[in-house]
Amino acid sequence: MSHKIALYAGSFDPYTNGHHDIVRKAAALFDEVVVMIAVNTGKRRSFDADAMRDAIQAALDADGLNARAVLHTGLVADYCAANGIRWYVRGLRNNMDYNYEENIAQINHLINPQLESIYLRSDEPAISSSMIRELLAFGKGVGDFLPEAVAGMIEITEQENGKYGK
Ligand code: COA
Repeated sequence: MSHKIALYAGSFDPYTNGHHDIVRKAAALFDEVVVMIAVNTGKRRSFDADAMRDAIQAALDADGLNARAVLHTGLVADYCAANGIRWYVRGLRNNMDYNYEENIAQINHLINPQLESIYLRSDEPAISSSMIRELLAFGKGVGDFLPEAVAGMIEITEQENGKYGK
């Protein structure tokens, strides 16, 4: 039987319990999940991508998930073609997510016709990375919305660099 690998990509700035919930679901369906920090050219990062990758890996390991975290600066569809990955998992919180995702799925399919996009529904529809950054900017604790390793990484970065803006 073939080893089924799924990719789950996002900006993960930061990676939240909402993202982790999707990875858990994907890990139950596939032999391996690659969690990729990818570049959204329309967004400027607040949190260091290398440190976030390490924190995501720690969160995946803490839950014993068959998943690994990677950084990639190119196209998702090209990475999947080069690495023999045929399933691209996306999380849906609402119909706005669906409309946004369908555009991405169609473009990815044009670039890599072997790649199938799969939607998993989110059980954490209110959480978003920008909501976390907003709360942080106002000095509110965000530990309830983040895996422990990510919360720890953010705390250390804030101690070193001061508070984050939105
Ligand atoms: N739970 C909680 N929050 C979720 C979520 C879930 N299940 N799913 C999505 N979100 C939130 C994210 O936190 C993020 O919130 P924010 O806008 O407040 O930061 C938002 O929904 C968008 O999520 P994300 O999936 O990270 O999309 P993105 O637009 O930030 O990143 C990439 C999209 C990185 C996957 C996309 O830009 C990409 O593929 N880049 C690489 C280049 C490429 O291949 N482009 C494709 C051709 S168009």
